[in-house]
Amino acid sequence: MTTLSLDHVVLTRRGVAVLAGIELTLGPGRTAAVMGRSGVGKTTLLEVACGLVRPDSGAVVVNGVRLDDARDALRSRTRLRDVGLVFQRDELLPELTIGENVSLPLRLSGAAAADSSARVAEVLGLLDIGDLAGRGTDEVSGGQLQRAAIARALVHRPALVLADEPTAALDEATAREAMALLLTTASAEGAAVLVVTHDASVADMAETTYSLSDGRLTPRDR
Ligand SMILES: Nc1ncnc2c1ncn2[C@@H]1O[C@H](COP(=O)(O)OP(=O)(O)O)[C@@H](O)[C@H]1O
Ligand SMILES: [Mg+2]
Repeated sequence: MTTLSLDHVVLTRRGVAVLAGIELTLGPGRTAAVMGRSGVGKTTLLEVACGLVRPDSGAVVVNGVRLDDARDALRSRTRLRDVGLVFQRDELLPELTIGENVSLPLRLSGAAAADSSARVAEVLGLLDIGDLAGRGTDEVSGGQLQRAAIARALVHRPALVLADEPTAALDEATAREAMALLLTTASAEGAAVLVVTHDASVADMAETTYSLSDGRLTPRDR
């Protein structure tokens, strides 16, 4: 089965075809990166892939659910259940501990607190931050915070992880480490990963890389 499929996806914003016929498929456990400069449509691509934004035309299928023509309720249910999202930075809630932040997707999908805590501990362990569950978000380093964001994206065992410049706030060594953990942990759990980034060294860690320009994806040589 295909985890993510974008078939001739078109989205025009303010008269510009930001996505002008995007074709992309990603199977379980596979990893891909999309590179492109600022403003080229990378975030838009992820918004469409997770069903937040409807394309003007084309098909978006996530884990067997057709999102482009689905009603809002199905789109949000699929996003909560089947997708994990990682952003650039600053998206953990400061009033919650690291562990509470990581448990949020589980709680939102209706898991009981007791069931959540074992899984939260497991995922924090996979990302090597098992001892940080009780810390506040201002009591860990930038790299640890980003690992917590990755843990939160994986905790509910999503079929698909979408990451928007996940390493942009990190120094080069920490960025590579966080990216490696994201790719290996997600793949080990069977999730497909799509990362968008302007950083070639980060993109090249994925199995397949594409360039996004003029609304189209082209395979990138390396
Ligand atoms: N909500 C929106 N409404 C209108 N235009 C938008 C919106 N979000 C982004 N854009 C425009 O779409 C283009 C692509 O933006 P974006 O996907 O954020 O690029 P990137 O993530 O590659 O920097 C830009 O020209 C941006 O100004
Ligand atoms: Mg962006």
